[in-house]
Amino acid sequence: MTDPQWTILKTLRWTADYFRGKGVLEPRASAEVLLAHVLGLSRLDLYLRYDQPLAPEELARFKVLMVRRRQGEPVAYLTGHREFWSLDFQVAPGVLIPRPETEILVSAALEAARNKMVGTGLQPAASATGQEGDHRIWGVEIGVGSGAVVVALAKELPQMDWLALDLSAAALTVARDNARRHGVGGRLHFVRGDLVSGLKPGPRFALLVANLPYVPRAEWEQLPKDIRDFEPREALLGGDDGLDLIRPLVRQAQQYLPPGGCIALEVGAGQAEQVLDLLRETEAYEQLESLEDYQGIQRVVRGRRR
Ligand SMILES: C[S@@+](CC[C@H](N)C(=O)[O-])C[C@H]1O[C@@H](n2cnc3c(N)ncnc32)[C@H](O)[C@@H]1O
Repeated sequence: MTDPQWTILKTLRWTADYFRGKGVLEPRASAEVLLAHVLGLSRLDLYLRYDQPLAPEELARFKVLMVRRRQGEPVAYLTGHREFWSLDFQVAPGVLIPRPETEILVSAALEAARNKMVGTGLQPAASATGQEGDHRIWGVEIGVGSGAVVVALAKELPQMDWLALDLSAAALTVARDNARRHGVGGRLHFVRGDLVSGLKPGPRFALLVANLPYVPRAEWEQLPKDIRDFEPREALLGGDDGLDLIRPLVRQAQQYLPPGGCIALEVGAGQAEQVLDLLRETEAYEQLESLEDYQGIQRVVRGRRR
């Protein structure tokens, strides 16, 4: 590909065919996003300027990304960006790429906040910081990753502050950066910890959300190579049945929620009933329900603290 007559359209067509032949997932979209990234254009611009030839330096940079994509590296790691909740998030290797179905977790938490919390003026019974005179409303996300969920919620709910917790230092660095870029850094408080083990018990949070690792061990090998070889195992793998992290969180979460507070958990395909049962066993929740994603999978489990 050194011919100066490589136009945008010719490059796109050639690359999409090449990717298709090599079994790359989403061949056309991959080609478009990578070329748009190299040229500093939107995907739409590519088609508006379809006959523009590429400079040798642009072709060279594109070729490097093309080879990495052929080897399975996710597009989001190659560009350093992924859109979520119509916001641009930075992503980096070592941190999970936010998924479209996780927007269901955001809308489930938002709906709960707007219907149950804002409407009734619910305040956490005690402040999250433990400081005298702290009357703000707090939420907590356990396992923030890139920060996509907590940043989207912070943007939508300007009256709330959030504790943003993860076990991974790499995730917290990326999440902190995303919070700053979206102007909500002042209302997000980042903590490194293992589930809620480092948090002082007390009904401090009006909302508790989590998208913890939930892939069962047996399903790991069936995941596409793009995920298995490039995304962090510790952000995805949830032990033998996928519930190794969700189970202890459900056991402990109730002590952090005041009456009327809401828990919302993302779960894997086929796990919703089991997680609802775990929540029922605590006898701490009412209005337990699961919510479907765009593919008809019960993706989020939600309940209201009695
Ligand atoms: C499936 S990812 C979700 C990331 C992000 N919330 C999202 O939805 O895109 C799970 C996250 O939980 C974190 N995690 C895994 N085990 C944890 C633990 N024991 N305590 C806290 N966070 C944990 C991982 O580092 C990862 O960032």
